[in-house]
Amino acid sequence: MNKIIYLDAAASYLKSDAVIGAEVDFLRNFYANSGRGVCARAAAVDDMVLRARKKVADFIGGAAENIAFISGTTDAMNMIAKMLDIGQDTIVAVSDLDHHSARLPFEMAGGRVVKLPLDDEYNIDVAGIPYADVMVVTAMSNVMGVAQNVPEIVRIAREKNPNVVVVVDAAQYVVHDDIDVRLWDADFVCWSGHKIGADTGIGVLYVKNPDAHKPVKFGGGMVQRVVDDGVLFVAGAEKFEAGTLPLTQIAGLGVAIDNIKQNRPNLELVKRLYDALSEMPRVRLISSRDAALVSFVVLDMHPLDFGALLGTRGVCVRVGNMCASWIHQRLGIAGSVRISVGAYNTEQEIDTVIEYIKDIVK
Ligand code: ALA
Repeated sequence: MNKIIYLDAAASYLKSDAVIGAEVDFLRNFYANSGRGVCARAAAVDDMVLRARKKVADFIGGAAENIAFISGTTDAMNMIAKMLDIGQDTIVAVSDLDHHSARLPFEMAGGRVVKLPLDDEYNIDVAGIPYADVMVVTAMSNVMGVAQNVPEIVRIAREKNPNVVVVVDAAQYVVHDDIDVRLWDADFVCWSGHKIGADTGIGVLYVKNPDAHKPVKFGGGMVQRVVDDGVLFVAGAEKFEAGTLPLTQIAGLGVAIDNIKQNRPNLELVKRLYDALSEMPRVRLISSRDAALVSFVVLDMHPLDFGALLGTRGVCVRVGNMCASWIHQRLGIAGSVRISVGAYNTEQEIDTVIEYIKDIVK
């Protein structure tokens, strides 16, 4: 069996030994719950969580009080949609770039849905930003792979409605470039740790004004005091973290952030692949040359069949609708093939895969 060539970082990034080591160290040597004890171990875990929260805040330009640990982007989006009390008169702007998890929680909440228009290259057309009460912005589509102009989109949205609540899905963006939530000026920004090489089950929810929003999950750790006529919640975004935190995953998250800051995926590999695919007559590229990933279809071949053929050669790629049905509908296709790289991928792997693809589509 050939060595596995894993080219699916955009679905989930491979874990470094340092991330795995940090989790094993935590589990083996200082495991305890956080926020619930006063012994030395509990204090060490509290300290670990605090350091991770600060590291996340530094990573995206916020403060520790703005950061809630949640299970992932899907969890965050569902929580935000509940926080906002969306009624039938609430105008919710979404786009065809959105992942199901970014758009469906808001659509299902019952608001009046309007679309952010896309230009000819399938980027959000800033000239056509509509009035909205809530706006979901996908910072980078998981199919098209191009960074959207979030600051400009938000600036125009706020011109149309100064009170618009802006929610940014940064799940695909976070691995490629620095996020500065101050520059984005969004009310909520969320992403999943596993897309940058941390574990599954840990995500980040940035909340600009935690005091302006109610918690939607209730349980341990988020209550400061129960009083006669209600509950006082803990300060800051920690009130959105009911129950025991995913501590092992938090132990790995800080290391994953250090790794990714030092070593982002090499997008020259993406260009190399793009250029090779553009020479193959049966391949129709969907993504652009400057995208962070390569998406395409093979004429007269179902994406699942293509993925299976690559799979038999030990190559892992993503196929299907990518949980992004709307952009595929716009492109007039049911699904596609997506190849994405992590910092661990090599030129040699890309060249091997190019040869495999040539053989499959010849
Ligand atoms: N959202 C992930 C992807 O794009 C799973 O593959």
